Amino acid sequence: MHLKTVVLASAIITVTTGIETHGGYQYEARFSPEATPEAKNIKDPYETTAATIANARLREQVEATGIARQCLAESADAEPAGLYALKDCIAADNKRNFFTLLAEDIEESKAFWTQVIQESTTDRTKWVPARAVSDYPHLFLQYPYTKCYFNGNLTATQFAAWTLSQNADEANLNANPEHYYKETVLDSTGAQRSEIFEGWGGVLSTFGMKRTNFTVPAFAPPEYGTVDTPEAWDIGPSFPLPLQRVGAKVLTSEDGQTFGALHIAVRDFTASEGSTGESGIEIYSAVWYPPWDQASEADQAEFVNNYLADEAHHMVVEVINLTQKAHEDCKSGLCVIPSSI
Ligand SMILES: *[C@@H]1O[C@H](CO)[C@@H](O)[C@H](O)[C@H]1NC(C)=O
Ligand SMILES: *[C@@H]1O[C@H](CO)[C@@H](O)[C@H](O)[C@H]1NC(C)=O
Ligand SMILES: *[C@@H]1O[C@H](CO)[C@@H](O)[C@H](O)[C@H]1NC(C)=O
Repeated sequence: MHLKTVVLASAIITVTTGIETHGGYQYEARFSPEATPEAKNIKDPYETTAATIANARLREQVEATGIARQCLAESADAEPAGLYALKDCIAADNKRNFFTLLAEDIEESKAFWTQVIQESTTDRTKWVPARAVSDYPHLFLQYPYTKCYFNGNLTATQFAAWTLSQNADEANLNANPEHYYKETVLDSTGAQRSEIFEGWGGVLSTFGMKRTNFTVPAFAPPEYGTVDTPEAWDIGPSFPLPLQRVGAKVLTSEDGQTFGALHIAVRDFTASEGSTGESGIEIYSAVWYPPWDQASEADQAEFVNNYLADEAHHMVVEVINLTQKAHEDCKSGLCVIPSSI
């Protein structure tokens, strides 16, 4: 509780501008297509707080289990770089260590999502997107759109190709403090199947990290207007369909229940569409969740307003870190869509 209070206070103080700069490139996030860009930086405050929480939990579990104990000497620094070094050390010992270290967290999260699913409509037209509350007094559909002003130095096609490469999985552990495992395989049609273990909460909401073990069994270009991908999820023609992917998020458990749907898209935008005079790529990322419509009013409000805001902020952190890494990797000509798909 005390930690959370301190954290919220520091997030509020870090008010700067609508543009944040990372690795020499400018970024701008908004939480709906027509909204004005967020006035405060998203990445640094969110990532730093999430790193503090993850660092404390991991160290506690390394102490308790003795797994990868040598890593405790690695870095006491909870800033993102220190936490990433700790995770790299734990993964170097065995990249499946996180499943054991955080086994209780996985169980807790599974119970949470099972309850949300049970107490929600299965009608996906009523699902709610991960969103953030910004200046809007009322509920407002919001999902992150992040403009990345690469000015031709990273294109939408290059980024899409990079996300299909092994490098994307390799960057995962350092892309977000709460990332613990990601393994992706492509099938012959180009659909991606990923096994993912991550958390994405506890910074803005009281629900905690919810460290969840899940799979996205088929992440592929969507066909809108179906039961699985309702018309309302269509983001229009400015995002080319081949550079969009949608896939169910399925809990890793015997009954494999679907607890959400992931939707990511990328497009090139021209200098006249941006606010800095430069061109770049825009990344749309949303996760649609069951609305928990049969929960208490207080729980539902916390879930929809604050917990899903955590996830929206988490995704902005990830978009910035991954585009930075993709830009580095693509310089060496790696970023070409495989000709087999
Ligand atoms: C994400 O940003 C943090 C903080 O700047 C950095 O330590 C980390 O290496 C970045 N991750 C990637 C994959 O570039
Ligand atoms: C982007 O690439 C151009 C060359 O195409 C280069 O002149 C420019 O410095 C690069 N921008 C950044 C911010 O690195
Ligand atoms: C988590 O998922 C992985 C597959 O990605 C599986 O091997 C592992 O056993 C699962 N662990 C738990 C505790 O659910």
